Amino acid sequence: MSATHRPDARAEDVPRDSTLDDASASPGGLPEFQPRELGSDELRQALGRFVTGVTIVTCRDDGGRAVGLTANSFNALSLDPPLVLWSLRSASASIAAFTAASHFAVNVLAADQVELSRRFARPSSAKFDAGEWTDGQGGAPLLAGCVAVFECRRRSHHAAGDHVLFIGEVERIGGSASTPLVYHAGHYRTLSGPQ
Ligand SMILES: Cc1cc2nc3c(=O)[nH]c(=O)nc-3n(C[C@H](O)[C@H](O)[C@H](O)COP(=O)(O)O)c2cc1C
Repeated sequence: MSATHRPDARAEDVPRDSTLDDASASPGGLPEFQPRELGSDELRQALGRFVTGVTIVTCRDDGGRAVGLTANSFNALSLDPPLVLWSLRSASASIAAFTAASHFAVNVLAADQVELSRRFARPSSAKFDAGEWTDGQGGAPLLAGCVAVFECRRRSHHAAGDHVLFIGEVERIGGSASTPLVYHAGHYRTLSGPQ
C-alpha cells in the first residue's frame, strides 16, 4: 500500500545529495534515475517525488496529554463506510498513544502553516504551545485554519514493516482555509493555481 511508503520520503531523513540540487539534470528539475539495485536512499528519493499534502495527526494519551506529529502518509481509503488511513513509524514516541486512543484527528495544513508542520516534525513536549487548538472527538486536538479536518474513530491498526498503519472511520469533518500546503522532494510548496 502506497501510504505506508510515504513517510520514508520525508525531508529530514533524506541525506543531502548535491545531484538533487542540479535543476538542469532533467526537464522536471530533478535528476533522472538510472536502473539499479533498490537502495534505501534511492527508494526515499523516488517516493519523495510523489506529491502529497501535509497533515498534523493528533490524539490524547491515556493521561489526557495532547499528542501529535506531522504526517504525509494520510490517504483516502473508502467512501462507504468513510475510512481514511495513515502510518506511523513503529519507533515513534507517539506509538503507544495512537494505538490506545479511541480517536485521532487529521488536520490538513494550509499553505501558511509551514512553521507548525516543522514544529510537529521534531520531538518536543511543547508542540501544542503554538497554533489555536480545540478538543474534538475523544479529545483529539483540532487545529484552526486548516483546509480540512477529519475526526476519526480508530477502527484498526496493523504492523507493516517499520510502520504501523492506522485506519480510522471519519465521524466529523471541518476546515476553513482554501490553499493547501504541498510537499514534494523534501520541500514545502504551494499550488500555483488551476491549469
Ligand atoms: C512532511 C513530513 C511528513 C512526515 N510524515 C510522517 C508520517 O507519515 N509518519 C511518520 O511516522 N512520521 C512522519 N514524519 C516524521 C515525523 O513528523 C517526526 O518523526 C516526528 O518527530 C514524530 O513525532 P514524535 O517524535 O513526537 O514521535 C514526517 C515529517 C515530515 C516533515
